[in-house]
Amino acid sequence: SHLPSTSCPPPAPARPQNSLKMPHQYPALTPEQKKELHDIAQRIVATGKGILAADESTGSIAKRLSSINVENTEENRRFYRQLLFTADDRVNPCIGGVILFHETLYHSADDKRSFVKVIKDKGAVVGIKVDKGVVPLAGTNGETTTQGLDGLAERCAQYKKDGADFAKWRCVLKISEHTPSHLAIIENANVLARYASICQQHCIVPIVEPEVLPDGDHDLKRCQYVTEVVLAAVYKALSDHHIYLEGSLLKPNMVTPGHACSKKYSPEEVAMATVTALRRTVPPAVAGITFLSGGQSEEEATIHLNAINKCPLHRPWPVTFSYGRALQASCLKAWGGKKEQVKNAQEEYIKRALANSLACQGKYVASGQGGAAAGESLFVSNHAY
Ligand code: 13P
Repeated sequence: SHLPSTSCPPPAPARPQNSLKMPHQYPALTPEQKKELHDIAQRIVATGKGILAADESTGSIAKRLSSINVENTEENRRFYRQLLFTADDRVNPCIGGVILFHETLYHSADDKRSFVKVIKDKGAVVGIKVDKGVVPLAGTNGETTTQGLDGLAERCAQYKKDGADFAKWRCVLKISEHTPSHLAIIENANVLARYASICQQHCIVPIVEPEVLPDGDHDLKRCQYVTEVVLAAVYKALSDHHIYLEGSLLKPNMVTPGHACSKKYSPEEVAMATVTALRRTVPPAVAGITFLSGGQSEEEATIHLNAINKCPLHRPWPVTFSYGRALQASCLKAWGGKKEQVKNAQEEYIKRALANSLACQGKYVASGQGGAAAGESLFVSNHAY
């Protein structure tokens, strides 16, 4: 007899057990490793805390230093990082982690304490940038992938011994009429997943950073759509690579209009677009969201973070900052390479750390009196970190 066409189809014949049905047949991490990773991630994004990204490569810090006419010598780089890391204890409840560049991990303060010890003494977790920068994807419209997988396991083992408990790897995606391409999306998702896997094997919490650049004249909607597509691909790849999400952090761009977009949007609109994109694509198991500032001014980055944390949509993860430029711009300017300005410069950094600590709890009230560079755009076209 014939079944009416509206009824359910007959059950599919039983399929043999395969790897899809037994995702945990070969566990990637022991329960002890998972606990350590989860504990580290939670310390970094504890209530009121975010990350100081001080991991500018030698080439990137050169641009920062040249903006204040300071020569890019190893001693000047050490001195400036010391200024940041020795800011007084008011920053301790604000900074859960500090990301360093390789060279800085092995520097010491004037009092001979290693920077690793200086940072840990203030209750923060030490992080290390482990990617080796962006390289072109041939045959694309200027798109890139990020290199640095070769030897990464060995470097992670060494960095862990030397005091690093988390890492960062930045990938970049560009919005234009025909980008990001499918190739750029899947290649960058996969390289982030492979990096995260290697980190977790060494009990280093991976910060996964797929930055959708703010360059372009696209509107908020387009940035939201691209961010959703990119993040969905990233979490598919992390799943395929058996990443333990509870022991990982995401460092995304906020959803903002392109830098050359003529339409202006309120912080509430940016927050709604950002939280919508994240809720659609980032599993609740992820330990935290730590935004990059991406060329926003210091004050703008704080106001947006605050609006995101006041957004009426539920957020299942802590949502905080991992700012480079937006924590350092006023500080750098106040320092200006002058020893007698160190205290003033530290005050500027502390001001931003306190403001962002409030913002990551949705408690920031703009005072209108920012630091030396608070309202200044920190946008750098096609930014390489
Ligand atoms: P910005 O906050 O200056 O964008 O940098 C953060 C960072 O670490 C980018 O990789």
